[in-house]
Amino acid sequence: MAEQLANKIAVVTGASSGIGAEIARAFGAAGASVVLVGRSAERLEQARTAVEATGAAATAVAVDVCADDAPERIVSATLAEFGRIDVLVNAAGVYRPATLDEISDADFDDHWRTNVRAPFRLTRAVRPHLPSGGAVVFVSSASGHVGSAGDIAYCTSKGAVELMVKSLAAELAPQGVRVNAVAPGTVHSPMNAHLLTPEVSQEWLAFTPAGRFGEVSDISPAVVFLASDAASYIHGVSLLIDGGLVAQ
Ligand SMILES: NC(=O)c1ccc[n+]([C@@H]2O[C@H](COP(=O)([O-])OP(=O)(O)OC[C@H]3O[C@@H](n4cnc5c(N)ncnc54)[C@H](OP(=O)(O)O)[C@@H]3O)[C@@H](O)[C@H]2O)c1
Repeated sequence: MAEQLANKIAVVTGASSGIGAEIARAFGAAGASVVLVGRSAERLEQARTAVEATGAAATAVAVDVCADDAPERIVSATLAEFGRIDVLVNAAGVYRPATLDEISDADFDDHWRTNVRAPFRLTRAVRPHLPSGGAVVFVSSASGHVGSAGDIAYCTSKGAVELMVKSLAAELAPQGVRVNAVAPGTVHSPMNAHLLTPEVSQEWLAFTPAGRFGEVSDISPAVVFLASDAASYIHGVSLLIDGGLVAQ
């Protein structure tokens, strides 16, 4: 069987850690060449090595996605290395729980800049290069589908991502470009490792019908599918991958 992403050139942000690093690896295994984006050059290098171990070509761009020149740097590095961009995965994100009373303006702004403004600006910069058949996949969250106490900045940002995806899907479909999202529930990753104490885990698992948290490998196959030509009539969906959390 042909590889799902054979000959595709893919940019993956948040590729230095967790869900994004596994998406980059899975893209390599599916035949894509991968541009890994993150801030930590050291962890990007580890992730790039894992992609190359699949036999795929990979390069890394160490950049803060919130920086003014980040979109231009990512696009020009990709074109210089591979000459094309077929797929963009916006996975970089931050999550720091805080209540309305606790959260600072700076922390609210950081959620907005990282989770909403940065992928908006990068998608705008990549769009002119995407061919008909190109795809953009956002890593949203179950927190974009339902609110929760103590997550005001995060839920607000992921709720915005949900409607950015739908708006972009409508706007870019005539160009032949598909825009979709995955919306994970709680997934074991460095983002929440410190939050998942035994007490919190027990509490959160009580709301998770599947009875377990997700692993990064639960998320990547859906991103590979949404980026692939097998999903060629799928526009503007946000696929919950949450063990049934939001179904109740
Ligand atoms: N884990 C979960 O339970 C869960 C659930 C739902 C949705 N998500 C979403 O999944 C995505 C990935 O999360 P994760 O769990 O894999 O977290 P993670 O392990 O903390 O990874 C976050 C990634 O985002 C990158 N990043 C953050 N801010 C950045 C910035 N300003 N510039 C460049 N890169 C930046 C980090 O790169 P550096 O560290 O190198 O800067 C890292 O690669 C996020 O969008 C998150 O909201 C996660």
